[in-house]
Amino acid sequence: MCSIEVTPVIATERLVMRGPVRADAMAIAKLAGDPGVAGQTVCVPHPYSRDDAEAAVERAYRLDWEREAEFAIEHRNFGVVGMLGFKVRELGRPELGYWIGRPFWNRGYATEAVRGALKWVKRDWRKRLVMAGHFADNPAAGQVLCKAGFLYTGDVRLKPSRARAAETPTRMMVWLA
Ligand SMILES: CC(C)(COP(=O)(O)OP(=O)(O)OC[C@H]1O[C@@H](n2cnc3c(N)ncnc32)[C@H](O)[C@@H]1OP(=O)(O)O)[C@@H](O)C(=O)NCCC(=O)NCCS
Repeated sequence: MCSIEVTPVIATERLVMRGPVRADAMAIAKLAGDPGVAGQTVCVPHPYSRDDAEAAVERAYRLDWEREAEFAIEHRNFGVVGMLGFKVRELGRPELGYWIGRPFWNRGYATEAVRGALKWVKRDWRKRLVMAGHFADNPAAGQVLCKAGFLYTGDVRLKPSRARAAETPTRMMVWLA
């Protein structure tokens, strides 16, 4: 039997976001293998191998897209430049996580990806609230979230960073549709 699984696709001016596939693993491993990327996320360990990236892709294949989402961020010319996803956190609320590979920083890709994803959240995923957080030593991530419409809740939590193997003060934010 042949089953065709269709995951959502989000198109923005320069980017296409779609479910990650095995062929992305090399690019994901190379970009997320940068400690400056992994160390600003909760989930990405360091070192981060191609096997780790393939395992992440396999996990994405098994996602319940009603509750969680995982997108490869593909630039129309440069291929995969990052990842963006929503995980279920406290009280069943989706929490946004994302990263852009260092060669592609400061070109507005994260802002474009987050804005595009939030349009999808509201229109297609039909969720009204998204949480996010950024490590206090990562103001660029806060800037991206502010530009996309997130507001600071005032809550600062200690969150683990797998790559740093340490808990890190995290400024929590919320977005309401
Ligand atoms: C944070 C990150 C996603 C930003 O991606 P990006 O594509 O470079 O982001 P954008 O270009 O859309 O926007 C970056 C903004 O941060 C600003 N910025 C960059 N460095 C900054 C700094 N040190 N302090 C304050 N703002 C900074 C930029 O000026 C820009 O804002 P502007 O457009 O108002 O000028 C990227 O650096 C990254 O993936 N880092 C590692 C992983 C990570 O931090 N993930 C987010 C976890 S919450």
